Amino acid sequence: MRELVQQLNFFGELGVTHLNLKNLNRVPTLPEIREEMGECTRCKLHRGRQNIVFGVGNPEADLMFVGEAPGADEDAQGIPFVGRAGQLLTRIIQSIGLQREQVYIANILKCRPPRNRDPEPDEVESCEGFLFQQIQAIDPLLVVALGRYAAQTLLQTQTAISRLRGKFYPYRGGLLIPTFHPSYLLRNPRAKREVWEDMKAIRAKLTELGSSYYAP
Ligand code: URA
Ligand code: URA
Repeated sequence: MRELVQQLNFFGELGVTHLNLKNLNRVPTLPEIREEMGECTRCKLHRGRQNIVFGVGNPEADLMFVGEAPGADEDAQGIPFVGRAGQLLTRIIQSIGLQREQVYIANILKCRPPRNRDPEPDEVESCEGFLFQQIQAIDPLLVVALGRYAAQTLLQTQTAISRLRGKFYPYRGGLLIPTFHPSYLLRNPRAKREVWEDMKAIRAKLTELGSSYYAP
């Protein structure tokens, strides 16, 4: 408090007579976050990328999907989940009566790791703040973490995805539910049954929370 008073006195000496406290803790918008990211060189992944993959969808979405990092198709187009796994994700979204455009889709990393290797800790550290800002701007009712890597990173746990999935966890002012990654489903089609269970739980939770998606 004493430091704050000193700061304010200092501003006063500089001739400041009005402070706009309304803007003091304003949440940045998605375009502002993208602008802050710029032509990012904060980590080594910028060297190999074609495009930054920021995110797509409804800036006021009730439901947000978070994957791991762009793959080759996403890197080429600058849009998340547009390859084979992405087409499956689109159908998973449609399975609960929603369109891709109604939700928001992003990744923890905005640039493609070489040969799609797992993100490295320094890359996550450089990049995750932008995802947190996106979540704050969108303020979704639910975040869906896609796959082991996103679930363990966002929840800061080493628990297996098979144990994490299908449950709701308090997360950044809302709830987070992990499910299997669509790439995993392409390799293990029988796991689609669990993802369908998770999607039904997501639809029920959105309804319970009064989401406009399912308003009568
Ligand atoms: N896998 C991901 O995790 N994200 C994408 O955008 C594409 C594939
Ligand atoms: N392993 C993963 O990395 N992700 C899944 O979704 C399932 C298994």
